[in-house]
Amino acid sequence: MKVFVTRSIPETGIELLKKQGYAVTINPYDRVLTKAELIDYIKKDRYDALLPLLTDSIDSDVLDAIGPQCKIVANYAVGIDNINIAEAKKRGIIVTNTPGVLTEAVAEHTIAMLFAIADRLVEADRYMREGKYKGWGPQLLLGADIAQKTLGIIGLGRIGYEVAKRMHRGFDSKIVYYDQIRKEDAERELKATYLSLDEVLAQSDFVCICVSLTPQTKRLITAERLRMMKPTAYLINTARGAIIDEKALVLALQERRIAGAALDVFEHEPDMAPGLAELDTVVLAPHIGSATIGTRSKMSEMAAQNIIAVLHGKPPINPV
Ligand code: DGY
Repeated sequence: MKVFVTRSIPETGIELLKKQGYAVTINPYDRVLTKAELIDYIKKDRYDALLPLLTDSIDSDVLDAIGPQCKIVANYAVGIDNINIAEAKKRGIIVTNTPGVLTEAVAEHTIAMLFAIADRLVEADRYMREGKYKGWGPQLLLGADIAQKTLGIIGLGRIGYEVAKRMHRGFDSKIVYYDQIRKEDAERELKATYLSLDEVLAQSDFVCICVSLTPQTKRLITAERLRMMKPTAYLINTARGAIIDEKALVLALQERRIAGAALDVFEHEPDMAPGLAELDTVVLAPHIGSATIGTRSKMSEMAAQNIIAVLHGKPPINPV
């Protein structure tokens, strides 16, 4: 059996594949392959499985190029917006992802981003490095209070729930949320209140985006919705950039219609909307929500285990 891995990932999964006797080919470059390069590679051999990253667009051209012997596309991510699922299904190719193993890492990163923007930590770090600190000041770099404030969660799924739980238990946050489905257990446990999306935006001091990117959530946060937020509120996004109209967000920040934003993801990664990086009211990170050693190793194992199951003729462990 032959597996193509689109970029070097932690060895844990690769070892599992090799233990099965599979021939594993890994993109030799430390960069994303262009679509033409990827097609070129997968056409060179008859791969039974493809292990792509969220940075690879697996569309009908790629699925055609890999050929009918390919049984599984095991995405190295929980998000699957990079894969054309309908086209895979049409060709009888199973798609899997890596849910669960990255929930805590992403939830913790979301909270870290929230604290970083509210406490102005990155600004403070820059201030120190630039030699601006001349002594303690009563008005120096004042940030926002976090405890007991209203935290709005958009998408109370696995990650949203873990963010809400930690913030409710640790910081006494008042949780409000919007989801397609009401989560009554979580409401009881976290004293969370279910609201419409617009009400979550209007009532929250901090809004965390925790939904997957789908056609329904693309540009969910429009210019109009940004106008619904309090001028003192912060927006945190560790899900997918395209959920927010990024240009509209830059304008809202420039006009100080919201207090700040913490972004781990961008609409057109690795690019950012013009003006975003010039703002002091943002904290920016390069899509590192799941980037802990342990989590990335587990993602690697999970992708490999899905491949092994399917190539043994068994059902996938994490089908999409
Ligand atoms: C995912 O798995 O979708 C995450 O964005 C990776 O960090």
